[in-house]
Amino acid sequence: MEQNFKRTLITSALPYANGGIHIGHLAGVYVPADIYARYLRLKNQEVIFIGGSDEHGVPVTQRARKEGITPQDVVDRYHNIIKESFEEFGISFDIYSRTTSDIHHKFAAEFFRKLYDDGKLTEQTTKQFFDEKTGKFLTDRDVVGECPYCHKQAYGNQCEEGCGRALEPTELINPRSKETGETPVLKETKNWYLPLNEYQQWLKEWILENHKEWRPNVYGQCKSWLDMDLQPRAMTRDLDWGIPVPVEGADGKVLYVWFDAPIGYISNTKELCDKEPEKWGTWEKWWQNEDTRLVHFIGKDNIVFHCIIFPVMMKAHGKYVMPDNVPSNEFLNLEDDKISTSRNWAVWLHEYLVDFPGKQDVLRYVLTANAPETKDNNFTWKDFQARNNNELVAVYGNFVNRALVLTKKYFDGKVPACGELTDYDRGIIDEFVGVKGEVEKLLDQYKFRDAQKEAMNLARIGNRYLAETEPWKLAKTDLTRVATILNISLQLVANLAIALEPFLPFSSKKLRGMLAMDTFEWSSLGSLELMPTDHELGEVGLLFEKIEDDAIQTQIDKLLATKEANKAAEYKANPIRENIEFDDFTKLDIRVGTVLECCKVPKANKLLQFRIDDGLEGRTIVSGIAAHFKPEELVGKQVCFVANLAPRTIKGIASEGMILSAEDNEGKLSLLTVSPEAKPGSEVK
Ligand code: MF3
Ligand code: ZN
Repeated sequence: MEQNFKRTLITSALPYANGGIHIGHLAGVYVPADIYARYLRLKNQEVIFIGGSDEHGVPVTQRARKEGITPQDVVDRYHNIIKESFEEFGISFDIYSRTTSDIHHKFAAEFFRKLYDDGKLTEQTTKQFFDEKTGKFLTDRDVVGECPYCHKQAYGNQCEEGCGRALEPTELINPRSKETGETPVLKETKNWYLPLNEYQQWLKEWILENHKEWRPNVYGQCKSWLDMDLQPRAMTRDLDWGIPVPVEGADGKVLYVWFDAPIGYISNTKELCDKEPEKWGTWEKWWQNEDTRLVHFIGKDNIVFHCIIFPVMMKAHGKYVMPDNVPSNEFLNLEDDKISTSRNWAVWLHEYLVDFPGKQDVLRYVLTANAPETKDNNFTWKDFQARNNNELVAVYGNFVNRALVLTKKYFDGKVPACGELTDYDRGIIDEFVGVKGEVEKLLDQYKFRDAQKEAMNLARIGNRYLAETEPWKLAKTDLTRVATILNISLQLVANLAIALEPFLPFSSKKLRGMLAMDTFEWSSLGSLELMPTDHELGEVGLLFEKIEDDAIQTQIDKLLATKEANKAAEYKANPIRENIEFDDFTKLDIRVGTVLECCKVPKANKLLQFRIDDGLEGRTIVSGIAAHFKPEELVGKQVCFVANLAPRTIKGIASEGMILSAEDNEGKLSLLTVSPEAKPGSEVK
């Protein structure tokens, strides 16, 4: 459905104010949203770009508890840190506010109240875990216990360390309150629900029929949700941090964070419009007018909230426009590992700028070049260096520098006049004039990675042009020809400043300074008359600098140190198990055996098959330790094994026992051996 929109409202997921911003956030949400906002502004379109901190919710209270401070302290600190990071990286929000603001509290409470008054919410009483020591209900993540499937420690909503299954808190074996260690009790509580099921048909039609153009990852996730039966979802919680539920008898309850946070997009718009009504008009114009194109930039863990829950909230309220697109990215990994705040596996923006001052655009460039638009992607420091040195320096910077320096040298820094064009010139011009249409087409489809590549092509064309025409060789014989070549080159440089402005705003600004041009219009992209003849260039400097190996090694070492620290912490967090009775110990029958044969199990790369002399008839044991040992080196060794473990069949082989080994804090195994005089079959006691 092609629609003619008059204005675009861009939102970017409101980050939780419980930590800083890292490259995963930038790559997933804020850089693409910013590119899009800048692009539309350059086209003189009416656009608002909304950002803000998500300051309610469990993640904030958890952080506060961990640090022994109040949730308000937490959000005050991180809101400012986050805001500053965004400013430093040129994320050009029109407003960056917060969900603890009065405007937001009031707005979100009224939104809820209207749904409540209009009978759009249902009431349900459920049993929830309650910690009698603190007198508080426990959220799913506040309950820990043993996973009923893999028996590792798990949270009430998910077995994160072990099998990864989604869980209900009541499934946990031995549930405990994370905060106090108490065994929680089940207690009845009443909450208000959004009956998503009543909107299922409408959602199916709106998304699955009318938005087939959404990214396959987004469409696919929506489809898998909508192929199941949607359930009513609680919009209120028993918590003491959040927006109080504005209903009689709801003491101690707050709005669910995923109810209030997206309303933050609207209340922030209102805050902006109220501040400067002449400039922005009314907030209703942006949210309740069919002429508005609403676009949500988010990460993939937010898809259901932006494609299903928030739209249902707006639909139930009435009047609101629906998102026209939800360009969600997949995840960015760091050096092949999932980015994780708790494991400190991240590149934090404030730290990056200390190590690479002034290099915001390098990071923006690399994150866009590797944007996880269609699948998870990987950030590596080596790739960062290569993209800087081989692309920004060697292609973009190099072309700009040559064009400007040659102009300084031969024409006193003034734009020389363009003379007669050769066929080769015309071919080059044709090539670069077409770039505008391509970049626009890609940006309009939210293909930022390809768009940036296409814009960079202008520099590749420029380098090729200079290499082919070699103006420095012609200077003595044909200065008129040199003038033409440099005129065309300077026009190309100016085109680069425009085409890359949404992606690399700092460099474009710097480049405009070197060209002594204040502004360029996007509409003039592709023009050959951007740089008037005789216009005097500004001071020429380097646009990008090479990044040396040692700077990269420092970053890699930093990450290696983090890995080491995590391992050590994990090791420490692995306490000696609970005491057992002597009788329990004697149940284990551990014996010495001699390895007679040992070989890999075919088609099972982890398994080794042993034949053991156990002093009796001998036995076969299969063990999952193939990654640690070469089978031939084990033959003849005296090992220890559990002799009375119930036999199991592994890959069709009957295994009678378990070979013992020791695991160190790096996960390395060594076999438990005994001195050679110990006879096979000796009991270990
Ligand atoms: N704070 C959430 C997160 O980081 C995102 C909230 S987006 C909004 O995953 F829509 F709720 F604002
Ligand atoms: Zn599990």
